[in-house]
Amino acid sequence: MHKPGQATMFRSFAETHPLTLEDLRRDIVGLNTPVPLLDGTERPYVFLDNAASTPAFGRVLQCVEDFLPWYSGVHRGTGFKSLLATEVFDAAHDVVGTFVGADLSRNTVIFTKNTTECINKLANRAGLHRDDVVVSTLMEHHSNDLPWRKHCAVLHIGVLEDGHLDLVQLRGALKEHRGRVKLVALSGASNITGLCAPIHEIAEWTHAAGALLFVDAAQLAPHRPIDMFPDDDPRHIDFLALSAHKMYAPFGAGALVGPKRFFEEGEPDMVGGGVVEIVTLDSVDWNHPPHKEEAGTPNVIGGVALAAAIGVLQSVGMETVARHEMALLEYAYGKLRRLRDVILYGPTERFDDKVGTITFNIQGKHNGLVAAILGAEGGIGVRNGCFCAHPYVKHILKVTPEEDRTFTEEVRAGNKSRMPGMVRASLGCYSNESDIDALVEMLERVIRNDIRGTYQQDRSTGAFHAAGYRPDFSRYFRYHIPGVHGIRRPSEAS
Ligand SMILES: Cc1ncc(COP(=O)(O)O)c(C=O)c1O
Repeated sequence: MHKPGQATMFRSFAETHPLTLEDLRRDIVGLNTPVPLLDGTERPYVFLDNAASTPAFGRVLQCVEDFLPWYSGVHRGTGFKSLLATEVFDAAHDVVGTFVGADLSRNTVIFTKNTTECINKLANRAGLHRDDVVVSTLMEHHSNDLPWRKHCAVLHIGVLEDGHLDLVQLRGALKEHRGRVKLVALSGASNITGLCAPIHEIAEWTHAAGALLFVDAAQLAPHRPIDMFPDDDPRHIDFLALSAHKMYAPFGAGALVGPKRFFEEGEPDMVGGGVVEIVTLDSVDWNHPPHKEEAGTPNVIGGVALAAAIGVLQSVGMETVARHEMALLEYAYGKLRRLRDVILYGPTERFDDKVGTITFNIQGKHNGLVAAILGAEGGIGVRNGCFCAHPYVKHILKVTPEEDRTFTEEVRAGNKSRMPGMVRASLGCYSNESDIDALVEMLERVIRNDIRGTYQQDRSTGAFHAAGYRPDFSRYFRYHIPGVHGIRRPSEAS
């Protein structure tokens, strides 16, 4: 049985090894990896796509390697390795809970594969009825919108001209639909503008309206300290989700934190091995959470990696990470604001409530074209399009309902070439000014049309490709099993 307080096996590292931001940069696996450019040269990759997924910390990789000799299935084995792996895996849950300030005597941490799975699980478990209301916002990632739509009415609170959530509308909706609102579900930080919502204030209003608060912390957890507050505090966050692959531990884990009592009730979201105490042919007694909600053999390595990544982040301190990223935003926007033809979205001057997400367009150039040029000619990894938040992006870009209908019809007809969008450059805790300089330098080239390639758009995907840019990926990565020459494919089996 999982006992809270086992996290010491991870905690000692953060206490005895304070790290600096420079240590974090040096620790990034694959930092400065040379990548091919269109002109046939190579340059160190500039990773500005951290909002999508981050590279791994070397220390996380090391922890996984150290743990692998002890790896075993957990919870039901009797051998030493299984007992050890169980203790480590259970402790990893506590590390996550402590990281977000959850009271682990009353809350549980459920490991999933990512934030999307956490939200689907919560939506499936929340006992929502068709006439219930979930109050969400226009700013949400589809992962924090579509799962709720499957169950009940979703109210999308609007955003103001400056991109911030319309808090007056939110309070009004809580009042108007009091009694029907079961849950307020919103992102702690937007994946488009990086804007952070005042989650504790919203928690107070939510609780006063008799509802519960879910915070999608996929973009918040890697960048800011989080405190869920005690369960009886009106500022308390009831449920919270995060993804390890956005926190330097891309080993397939996510975590959902919420009240034990909530998950004790009802049937698990998914059923199978591990979720039960006893089964007869006509009855099932469920196990306690988190086991009740972690059906099947869990992702032990992913959970351990997430705990290790948290240990590394804590060795620097989330306050330090936050200050560093704000200073870097200051530096970046100082430069970007001076570029002619660059249209910036969201706040460009105050960053205390904005994580390191920079979205922009270049006047007269398709977002997909700009992103392709940055990749092929600058070795810079960014992302473009609508970033799984179509309504928010279209709102910011002032797409009219009629245009929206036209784009929808075009996409249905297989043509994504005119889908609106933006370019997003996103920072991590290890990013520095040289990354920004590389981006700005390439944008200056794009603006003055100092481009080597000829780019064509694929109508079906909307993506742009540089003619002649066909790198041989096997030159860069090839899985080589020492001593084994060639892998026999199933079709070749005798
Ligand atoms: C705000 C937000 N919520 C949810 C998600 C979904 O996360 P995942 O893909 O890890 O499930 C993302 C991913 O980018 C996100 O940015």
